[in-house]
Amino acid sequence: MTLLVTGIGELTTHDDEEPRDGPFAVVVDGDRVAWTGRARAAPACDTAVDVGGRAVLPGWVDSHTHLVFAGDRGEEFARRVAGRPYTAGGIRTTVDATRAAPDADLAARLRRHVAEAARQGTTCLETKTGYGLTVADEARAARIAAGEVDEVTFLGAHLTPAGTTTEDYLDLVCGPMLDAVAGDVGWIDVFCEDGAFDGDAAARVLAAGAARGLGGRVHGNQLGPGPGVAVAVAAGAASVDHATHLTDADVEALAGSDTVATLLPACDLSTGQPPPPARRLVDAGATVALASNANPGSCYTTSVALGVALAVLQAGLSVPEAVRAATLGGARALRRDDVGHLRVGARADLHVLDAPTVVHLAQRPGVPLTAAVWRAGVRVPADAPLSEEVHP
Ligand code: NIG
Repeated sequence: MTLLVTGIGELTTHDDEEPRDGPFAVVVDGDRVAWTGRARAAPACDTAVDVGGRAVLPGWVDSHTHLVFAGDRGEEFARRVAGRPYTAGGIRTTVDATRAAPDADLAARLRRHVAEAARQGTTCLETKTGYGLTVADEARAARIAAGEVDEVTFLGAHLTPAGTTTEDYLDLVCGPMLDAVAGDVGWIDVFCEDGAFDGDAAARVLAAGAARGLGGRVHGNQLGPGPGVAVAVAAGAASVDHATHLTDADVEALAGSDTVATLLPACDLSTGQPPPPARRLVDAGATVALASNANPGSCYTTSVALGVALAVLQAGLSVPEAVRAATLGGARALRRDDVGHLRVGARADLHVLDAPTVVHLAQRPGVPLTAAVWRAGVRVPADAPLSEEVHP
């Protein structure tokens, strides 16, 4: 079955050969993009949808979330906005609630949040373990996540749980816990920060994961400067995430590496950190991704569009740069070439905006602008009708 999506006012494919004058069209064949170009040159298809002049871009690739959790941290958030600083200690609250929750509850919450993200244009989503911190609880989180999302990351090294030492806990993470999750995850991650794990511990975790064939990711430089970026780059990690507090040497190291700087501006906003150094990184030549960091503590939003708006309004990116970071950048952070763009052969992940151009993503922050979403060629439920035209 082929589908013609036509009447596109602005089309972002991330193809260097993108035609300039619209209206545009995209042909979807099964789950893949089969053709893109000017609407008047489009081939005949089995069915057609006219999007009425709306902008179409690749679905968001959300390469950083923590969505296997139970419990609520509303009180902690209220204390934070009243002036108490964010510390990673709140993670323990979620660990207790998550351990106590039945499998079905964790899976239902995860599905609800994934569906919430999809309604806002997210078509490829990574999530992590990290609120279990026992072999059984981490294995359970990995198994539940593997059934629901595109990419799963093992974050046993989130915090050292009460009742053990960091050394003993690292032995567990790099041994029996890793063995228990390895079949359900593609990535290993470590929270490298004062109060969590230091640079040597982070390097050890990444090496243990690499020995099991897992790609590396690092939570680094979130709450202050630290060794996270250097460790990630030295280990050839796919990404270092947060990357809020960077020295010039960190920026230079990222620019000279394949490690993606995954920025989480909504988290920085929610935790009272400065905006991420997006402009410095892009100017230096580093690859930048934008992700939601949806989690119950530091950043309880699944909105990638919010991160795009903040990257433009607070962190100095142009709208096209921010859109690229939240699509192609996310794909690079996950080392995927099938998503994050709409070149021929890509997974047919289309995000139709209720707007004539992507500029509206930053110009109208907070407004739900997702009009329709296709994931792998299948329409994901969305509220807005496509019958009326949008005018610039
Ligand atoms: O990415 N930095 C560590 N982990 C999460 C925080 C999770 C939490 O507060 O529950 C983060 O911000």
